[in-house]
Amino acid sequence: MATVKTKTVWFCKSCGNEASKWMGRCPACGEWNTMVEETVATGRKSSSDPASVPGSGHKPTPLAEIDSAHERRMSLNNAELDRILGGGLVEGSLVLIGGEPGIGKSTLSLQIPLNCPSLKTLYVTGEESAKQVKLRAARIGGDDSGCYIYSETLMENIISEARKMMPDLMVVDSVQTMFSQNVESSPGSVTQIKETASMLLRFAKETGVPVILIGHITKEGSIAGPKILEHIVDVVLQFEGDNRGTYRLLRSIKNRFGSTSELAVFEMTGKGLREVSNPSEMLVPMHEEGLSGVAVSAMLDGTRPFLIEVQALVSTAAYGTPQRSATGFDVRRLNMLLAVLEKRAGFKLGIKDVFLNMAGGLKVSDPACDLAVVCAVLSSNFDFAISSDVCFAGEVGLSGEIRPVAQTDRRVMEAGRLGYRKIYVSSFSSLEMVPDGIEVVKVADIPALCRSLFK
Ligand code: TYD
Ligand code: MG
Repeated sequence: MATVKTKTVWFCKSCGNEASKWMGRCPACGEWNTMVEETVATGRKSSSDPASVPGSGHKPTPLAEIDSAHERRMSLNNAELDRILGGGLVEGSLVLIGGEPGIGKSTLSLQIPLNCPSLKTLYVTGEESAKQVKLRAARIGGDDSGCYIYSETLMENIISEARKMMPDLMVVDSVQTMFSQNVESSPGSVTQIKETASMLLRFAKETGVPVILIGHITKEGSIAGPKILEHIVDVVLQFEGDNRGTYRLLRSIKNRFGSTSELAVFEMTGKGLREVSNPSEMLVPMHEEGLSGVAVSAMLDGTRPFLIEVQALVSTAAYGTPQRSATGFDVRRLNMLLAVLEKRAGFKLGIKDVFLNMAGGLKVSDPACDLAVVCAVLSSNFDFAISSDVCFAGEVGLSGEIRPVAQTDRRVMEAGRLGYRKIYVSSFSSLEMVPDGIEVVKVADIPALCRSLFK
């Protein structure tokens, strides 16, 4: 037998780029300090190498002759999960669920077979023993008649077992613990992660069995080998939010079969994750009237309207340089809004500390939140409470003008549905119809807003 030769190469942890020597900065993606050393076999062919895959017998086909029958989807008996997948799990798809340790990836993926006993599910665990999975299942409850637990980390065994069993669904927990004999390096390395994902992808495409793959997130907030995995898999769902709180947000950041930037909300209970079908409940906590520094924003996340509470605290700076800090909101945008308030409306905030917080651990990127941020800051600065049945939706421009935002109608409808009495929007918004019971106040700029709000 010929001896296998190995060589040392350097991989970028962020994009998977391969180089023959170490570099401080990856030339492909421009990230610093991401190159890691790995040994690869030179003689042996990796199974992800196209040349080692036998011909599948497919021939080029005219597009017109391809069967366009709808992709088959299966419901996972979980409305939130089905929705962010674009209406159920597509046959033969590879779905990556990412998130920080302890956020609920294993819980969510174990809940799927327990909720769908009619599906024969192969749950491969490389992280926990079969006994631990059993204990977790007992905690979650549900019907475990369709669920098979397989404690294994060698990919070749997993694929051959899965081919024998032909389940309706396969879960692999987690990509970082799996390894293949085709690759020399240790589990969790860039080459192993790539190999594991491409073996699972090939299995899913050849058999039509959907595969849910769990991946951990590194400190920097990206799935270990993030871009490496992201372009291999069909769907990427990422858990976000604070794993100390009880709410968990699952966001779709890539979906070949549906829209991205969809958001599902779950609550971690003693019996697993519960779907939260009306997230505004959790984002606008109930408290008594008369608190200053609080404003409610009618925001949109993906296609879903939400009402979220924005909290601000403005106080006299204790040190020479005022502090600005924001949780769930871009600090640079906060600084921009404070500068607008100072320059265009004459509020002296340059000597104040400003702290901003979005409720529920949500990261907000919708510009429509600007107006609520400005109102929360002014409310805290003047210790003036905004009535709790008022909400806001508008973008603030550099000259202090309030600009219209996308889908104002849907925001107004959602606010009306949740019992808000008044919503402030830009005077340039065009509204088709206004539901009964809610008053729409149109404001053109910050001074007009202040006149109307603090009169
Ligand atoms: P887990 O799914 O193990 O996280 P991950 O796989 O993402 O690392 O989630 C573990 C956390 O969830 C842990 O802190 C315990 C908590 N938990 C509950 O609160 N209730 C439950 O029913 C379960 C199963 C877990
Ligand atoms: Mg886990």
